[in-house]
Amino acid sequence: AIRYFELNTGAKIPSVGLGTWQASPGVVGAAVAAAIKIGYRHIDCAQAYDNEKEIHWPASMKKGSVGFKPENLTKPDIPSTWKAIEALYDSGKARAIGVSNFSSKKLGDLLQVARVPPAVLQVECHPVWQQPKLHAFCESKGIHITGYSPLGSPGTGTIKKEVLKHPVLNMVAEKLGKSPAQVALRWGLQMGHSVLPKSTNETRIKENFDVFDWSIPEELFPKFAEIEQERLIRGSGFVHDTFGAYRTFEELWDGEI
Ligand code: A2P
Repeated sequence: AIRYFELNTGAKIPSVGLGTWQASPGVVGAAVAAAIKIGYRHIDCAQAYDNEKEIHWPASMKKGSVGFKPENLTKPDIPSTWKAIEALYDSGKARAIGVSNFSSKKLGDLLQVARVPPAVLQVECHPVWQQPKLHAFCESKGIHITGYSPLGSPGTGTIKKEVLKHPVLNMVAEKLGKSPAQVALRWGLQMGHSVLPKSTNETRIKENFDVFDWSIPEELFPKFAEIEQERLIRGSGFVHDTFGAYRTFEELWDGEI
C-alpha cells in the first residue's frame, strides 16, 4: 500500500490528501473533520482559497493587497522568497519545503540558487495532464510531485474538459470495479505522486481514500499514454500584458503548455 512517500528530507508525505480549493468556508471545516476521521493526514490549503483565517504560484502581489486584481501583481523575486522559506526549514517549523506551479525551467533555476533544494513540487497532474517531462526532471532531482486537481476539477464551471468521463478511465474503472475517480487517483499513486482530491461530501471523501488495497495492472498503463494531453489550470490570473512578471502563457509555463 502506497500510504506515504518519503521526501528528500527524510520526512514522509501522506499520499492522499484532501483538497480544499473551492470548498466554501461554511463547509470546509466539516469536510476536514470527516477526512481526518477517515484517515486523511494531509490537507491542502492556501490563503488564496479565501477559506483560511500560506504561497502558491511563481507570482507575487503588492503588500497588503486583497484578491486577484492584475494591477496588484508584482514581479516575484523567487530566490529571496526561497531564502525565507529555507529559514522556516532551518527553524524546524517546516519538516520539508516546496514550490507550486513551477515549470521544469523555473525549478532548474531554483535548484541553481537553493541551499535547501525543494522537497515537493505541487502541480496540476491527472491522466489528461501527465507532465512526463516534468515528472522525469523531478525524479532525476529527488523532488516529489504532488498532483492537484487529480480529478480534473469538475464543478469549477470554467473547465470544459471532463477528465472523469474519459473513455480510458471508464474502461479501466469498469474492468477493476472501481470508480473513474478512484482510477485517476490510483494512477497518480502508481506514478509515484501524492494526490489532493477535493471533496466536501463524506461519501466521496471516503471513496477517494479507498485506493490503497488494489492497483491498476501494469498492462493497462499503455492505455494512459494514449490520452490526449491538455493543461486545464492555465493560471490566467497571473498573465497580463502590463502587470506582473508574465506577458504570455508561454512565459508563465516556459513553453510547457
Ligand atoms: P464534491 O466536493 O461535491 O465531492 P479536484 O480534486 O480535481 O479539484 O476535483 C474536485 C471536484 O470533484 C469537486 O467538484 C468534487 O465535488 C468532485 N469529486 C470529488 N470526489 C469525487 C468522486 N469520487 N467522484 C466524482 N466527483 C468527485
